[in-house]
Amino acid sequence: MIVSASLLAFNFTNLSKDFETINNLVEWLHYDVMDGNFVPNISFGPSILKDVKKISPLFMDVHLMVTDPDYYTDVFYQAGADLITFHFEATKGIDESLRLIRKIKSLGIQSGISIKPKTKPEEIEPLLKEVDLVLVMSVEPGFGGQSFLESAYNKVKYLKNYKDIHHLNYYIEVDGGVNDVTGPKLLEIGTDVLVTGSYLMKGNPEDNLKKLNK
Ligand code: DX5
Ligand code: ZN
Repeated sequence: MIVSASLLAFNFTNLSKDFETINNLVEWLHYDVMDGNFVPNISFGPSILKDVKKISPLFMDVHLMVTDPDYYTDVFYQAGADLITFHFEATKGIDESLRLIRKIKSLGIQSGISIKPKTKPEEIEPLLKEVDLVLVMSVEPGFGGQSFLESAYNKVKYLKNYKDIHHLNYYIEVDGGVNDVTGPKLLEIGTDVLVTGSYLMKGNPEDNLKKLNK
């Protein structure tokens, strides 16, 4: 299991304290980029990523919830992303998505494709041979602290089955409402990366983390 801690749920009045805790607990930092257009919320730009990298050695898992992923790929590559995931729904379809996946990989970092709750994984099938990660949104993107949408389970099962049949090795990542109930179920059916924000950071992160993998 890889855990990607969502920065959105950190305490911004004492950020370095949260990093002291989280740096030693998880492997990845989930960095949500919201442009106020693709989603009705605004989060963090590239300069905050540069600052975060000064106080965290974690693998930077950048989730672009933006209308122009092509432009922001360059911006967040420059800022130090290790993996850039963009939304299939923000592109014109398969051709544009493939171009963007190839562009991200040509920069020497990993590429991810994300689907919103209403998008079926079948729609991105032609991308699965090339992408390093598929991010299944288990809430409508835009805000932390929402309840998990059960439809994500079947998407994970589909993606895991497709991966096994075709001998592929993309990561399956799930984002939104992951906690001590949904996390263990997701791992059991083949999820590789759990994004967790409000569940992880509320109370004791170390105890919360242990309960993700029962
Ligand atoms: C939602 C974001 C998530 C969010 C998850 O649009 O993509 O990464 O931080 O938050 P929780 O774990 O609180 O559901
Ligand atoms: Zn996210």
